[in-house]
Amino acid sequence: MAGPLGKDLLGLAPLSAEQIQLVLDTAVPFREISERAIKKVPTLRGATIVNLFFEASTRTRISFEFAEKRLSADTVNVASAGSSVSKGETLVDTARNLEAMKIDMVVIRHGGSGAAKFLAERIESNVVNAGDGTNEHPTQGLLDMLTLRDRFGDLRGKKICIVGDVLHSRVARSNIWGLTKLGADVAVCGPRSLLPNAIEAMGVTVFNRIEAAIEWADALNVLRLQLERMQAGYIPSLREYNRVFGVTSARLEKAPRDLLILHPGPMNRGVEIDSDVADGPHSVILDQVTNGVAVRMAVLYLLAGGKPELAEAAKKGVA
Ligand code: CP
Repeated sequence: MAGPLGKDLLGLAPLSAEQIQLVLDTAVPFREISERAIKKVPTLRGATIVNLFFEASTRTRISFEFAEKRLSADTVNVASAGSSVSKGETLVDTARNLEAMKIDMVVIRHGGSGAAKFLAERIESNVVNAGDGTNEHPTQGLLDMLTLRDRFGDLRGKKICIVGDVLHSRVARSNIWGLTKLGADVAVCGPRSLLPNAIEAMGVTVFNRIEAAIEWADALNVLRLQLERMQAGYIPSLREYNRVFGVTSARLEKAPRDLLILHPGPMNRGVEIDSDVADGPHSVILDQVTNGVAVRMAVLYLLAGGKPELAEAAKKGVA
């Protein structure tokens, strides 16, 4: 079934600004469901959703599962270990076998860039990209934007700097696509070895010094150094990285304004971000996690054909 987002959510690059705003607006009423004693509405009762997680995840996997359960969908979790993927079965064969058991949606995290699109083109179920290689992580981008919108309101003209390992980051790409569509000024900051070639072509400003980024920005979205995706030689050492690019309270104290601090997690404390910043008064890192459940509820609802104007009614359990 195709809703106002189309059949699948593969990234923020293909979405319009209106579609992005629609997801954020739809997430707001869904947020309240997680505050209730009984955190459940019948909106997706009867729908079956498979979570295919072929890469490690804490926040995204659990957040999708909470979102699905709070909308009363039936859920099945599949990881590569323990499934026939570990015996060499292809991704498409796995998904087609699941479809033969009559499923409605697949949420997929995969190490290969383009894996979600590849799957979406070959199965009838709705596909949601929960992070594919270094390509996109659209629901992370959406929850980051909801968190920024909660604090700033309209994002037009707000200065958001993405700091760190942009090269390996699907979160950075989804943030750049999404934030620029909503009219924010976006910058990246990091060692040149961790910035993609021609990143400026995505419409972002490049800062080579963290001090300059801090002076410019209204918010920093601090990325994890993805050590598992680095072969060697990107940075001299973790200590050196922290010394030159670390987001530290000493650096933030020199900022001309209070900066909002985001991090998609998991964090390398003491490397890209110091603990007193991560746990400090300007950090919205746990708000991001809370918003993640609401954003994913909104995405599932809209992909299932839910009408945006009925999101309020769905929250009350009558749509
Ligand atoms: N932000 C994020 O994708 O975290 P996980 O890898 O824990 O899902």
